[in-house]
Amino acid sequence: MSTQTHMLRCTGCGQRIAGQEARSDFRCPSCGDLYEVEYPWSESASGAPVNRPNPFALKHLWQERRTSTLAVDQSGVWRFRDLLPIVADDQAITLREGNTPLYELPKSAAALGMNWLLAKHQGMNPTGSFKDTGMTAALSVAVSRGFEWVACASTGNTSAAMAAYAARAGLRSMVLIPEGKIAWGKLSQSMDYGSMTVQLRTDFDGCVRVLTELVKRAPIYLLNSVNPYRLEGQKTPAFEMLEQTDWQVPHHVIVPGGNLANCAALGKGFAELKHLGFISRVPKISVIQAEGANPLYRAMQENGGRSLEPVKAETRASAIRIGNPASWKKTVRILEATGGWCEQVNEREIALAKAQIGAEGIGCEPASAVTLAGLKKLVAAGRVGTEETAILLLTGHTLKDSEYTIQYHRGQLFNEAELAEAGRGELDQHAALQHAPIVLDANVDDVLRALDSVAATAGQIA
Ligand code: F0G
Repeated sequence: MSTQTHMLRCTGCGQRIAGQEARSDFRCPSCGDLYEVEYPWSESASGAPVNRPNPFALKHLWQERRTSTLAVDQSGVWRFRDLLPIVADDQAITLREGNTPLYELPKSAAALGMNWLLAKHQGMNPTGSFKDTGMTAALSVAVSRGFEWVACASTGNTSAAMAAYAARAGLRSMVLIPEGKIAWGKLSQSMDYGSMTVQLRTDFDGCVRVLTELVKRAPIYLLNSVNPYRLEGQKTPAFEMLEQTDWQVPHHVIVPGGNLANCAALGKGFAELKHLGFISRVPKISVIQAEGANPLYRAMQENGGRSLEPVKAETRASAIRIGNPASWKKTVRILEATGGWCEQVNEREIALAKAQIGAEGIGCEPASAVTLAGLKKLVAAGRVGTEETAILLLTGHTLKDSEYTIQYHRGQLFNEAELAEAGRGELDQHAALQHAPIVLDANVDDVLRALDSVAATAGQIA
């Protein structure tokens, strides 16, 4: 791979720069907007026509690499390196990310009256979230540019991924996280991987503000998703999804929305495959936000996504507790280009959907469960037809936030006001899914009695 093969194009004013010329905050000096990576074969590229990558040859090559023993071939990101030539092969820092499963969700599909509902489980990545696919790409660029320090502001998953990849590369890393507002599993990861872990007395948006200033004053490479190389890695699950469906394009892909980069990344991936002739149409991509962290939902309702008013974010789905999303304009473009929607879901809807995904034997973290909760609304509104096909993007592993799960099953998650709002039918749905631990003395009779009573209750519910 050659590093001369790409440019950065401003998604606002269209100005192009070489990768090395980007400012430390990855904002365009002319218009302040964000960049995207552009290749000579990109749809937006100007200049002389180039030899386009050949879909038939690449599909074959990508499959062949699955049997290789080379690290870059075993990675589910770098296996597709022909469409992300941003560093030389030997500079890729990989933990064999990607290659995540595409699961059927038979119970959820049946409940919705759908025949074909799948989940791409990005929580099955090395550090337990989809961030690994983007981090392998952007951190490899940091190495190729000679940086010693990398940093990010995070709600917990980016920091875990960055800390791990920095450790693999032998770089120093610093994470800025909102104090007391990220899940323990994620906090423990950045410490375990040896990162300088800084808890700031603010929220995620406050951490971003501090970091943006910091990188202007110290030679630190910024690894938040304003870094366009992150999105190059995060577009590859789109490629994998299509490989896994034998190139049958689903009608819908549903993603959670926080800082709003992931929707943009997947949208870029699908658009590139269509442009290059791998597929003839792209799926509708819809974004789901938590009601308490819904700036994009509001913007779409109020002005069709022309302007976005930041909000003070509050949700138990701490990964997406973001009020001022950096990549909202990129995501609005994807919603418009693919015909998808932005929906919002409340805390009870998130918890119910998370328990239902758990009951499928898969599980996910709360932020990922907004996808199923949102799909229910899209089906109810007739936006997703029951005869259509949909893939939910599960972004994080259930073990990331076990405290949330335990509180839910113990019946301690919701407050009085939430319980008062829930109707009888909804409370019954929760009760049927909740499995609080049972504490007993260590004798067989007690355990048998408990077994009888649980079996009898299960019988009633069935
Ligand atoms: N799901 C999970 C589990 C996340 O961690 C995030 C974002 C999202 C969804 C939203 O993705 O920001 O691209 O819209 N987490 C970031 C972090 C912000 O710091 O880990 P997005």
